[in-house]
Amino acid sequence: MSERAAFRGRVIHCLRNPGVSSDADAIEYFDDGLLLVEDGLVAAAGPAEVLLQNLSEEISVTDCNKSWIVPGFIDCHVHYPQLDIIASYGERLLDWLNTYTYPAEARFNDPAFAAATAERFLDELLANGTTSAMVFATVHPESVDAIFATAQSRNMPLWTGKVLMDRHCPDDLRDTAESGYRDSRALLERWHGQDRLQYAITPRFAPTCSPEQLAGAGRLADEFPDAYIHSHLAESHAEVAWVDRLFPERSSYVDVYRHYGLLRERAIYAHCLHLEDAGISAMAEDGAAIAFCPSSNLFLGSGLFDFNRAEVAGVPVGLGTDVGGGTSLNMLRTIEDAYKVLQLRGQSLSPVRALYLATLGAARALHADDKLGNFEPGKEADFVVLDTEELPILSARLDHAHELPEALFALMMLGDDRLVRQTYLLGKPAIS
Ligand code: GUN
Ligand code: ZN
Repeated sequence: MSERAAFRGRVIHCLRNPGVSSDADAIEYFDDGLLLVEDGLVAAAGPAEVLLQNLSEEISVTDCNKSWIVPGFIDCHVHYPQLDIIASYGERLLDWLNTYTYPAEARFNDPAFAAATAERFLDELLANGTTSAMVFATVHPESVDAIFATAQSRNMPLWTGKVLMDRHCPDDLRDTAESGYRDSRALLERWHGQDRLQYAITPRFAPTCSPEQLAGAGRLADEFPDAYIHSHLAESHAEVAWVDRLFPERSSYVDVYRHYGLLRERAIYAHCLHLEDAGISAMAEDGAAIAFCPSSNLFLGSGLFDFNRAEVAGVPVGLGTDVGGGTSLNMLRTIEDAYKVLQLRGQSLSPVRALYLATLGAARALHADDKLGNFEPGKEADFVVLDTEELPILSARLDHAHELPEALFALMMLGDDRLVRQTYLLGKPAIS
């Protein structure tokens, strides 16, 4: 017997990329909608009136009243070992790494500490309505086992991998080209494709990886074409200048990754703020994606992402919180920052486009849109129920909203984790 459940409320999801012109038809919305789940997958999404007619009496219908039923948010770039150094004062990227980040990451050789942090981290994601994430661990294989095991026990889709870093870092965070390759390969073989887990080959960024280590990462990427690649690219000016000094034989920062076979489909690069047009074109040609991390880019003073350039070039873009460089794990807060960054850039982020970025667009960037990102029948039923009545200021604002995009925009600018009534993974409540 199949297991069926239905959820009634304001059902909203994206059908396609609205693009720069922000085509409002890219969204489907049912004011009194029903999301029908069968064996953890979406069976249908549509008007409650119509779908209820064909349902048997026995099916349980969860009435979400006026709450919004939204596909689970997907965070395309976040560091779980940096949970406890979130909101650390005063530094730009390279000093921030040395002052706060590396000392915090050194503790993750302890499996018990890593497991406890992984639990708290995933609790936080779910409390914020985030159902999937592309996550940085640390250089220690134990840190990868901890977060994969924790995600697996919750049935959560998660991408992660061992950080590769064999130079320009503290001794207790340093691997070697050989051990990095060997440990990554063993972890990949243990975890990649288990349940909802995917392995990401994770060179931290070019400055902390020797040419030999980048070559080993590229070899692994070649041997496992369906594995992912996850790294940082062109986040700060000082970092870009450092890469130019370290790799004088390469024409650009993007060319470093390309040369070592790390620019390809299933590669996600966080930031990409300070790239030439040729770098963006190379990413588009090779099928690599960008994680836009506005909160982090503002907090670390790194720069303002040129979203329209990436969109026009055809580079897939998702949103990342980049905690601990970012100051919130909440995707609505991240959308708010993205909107403000684009205002400063003279670009605009419509609510339709923002919803796409945090759901279906992120799933596309992760090559997971066959399973995640919206409520098409057959997709995995990960979703969040957002109750706008929880926030009086939002609730009052919505009373004055005349059209859907206006209401959605207010929800995005004013909402946060207080709206999350429940988060569902494969149709089951994920918050106890
Ligand atoms: N570049 C290399 N490592 C990091 C990191 O941990 N956070 C951010 N924001 N950028 C990085
Ligand atoms: Zn990062």
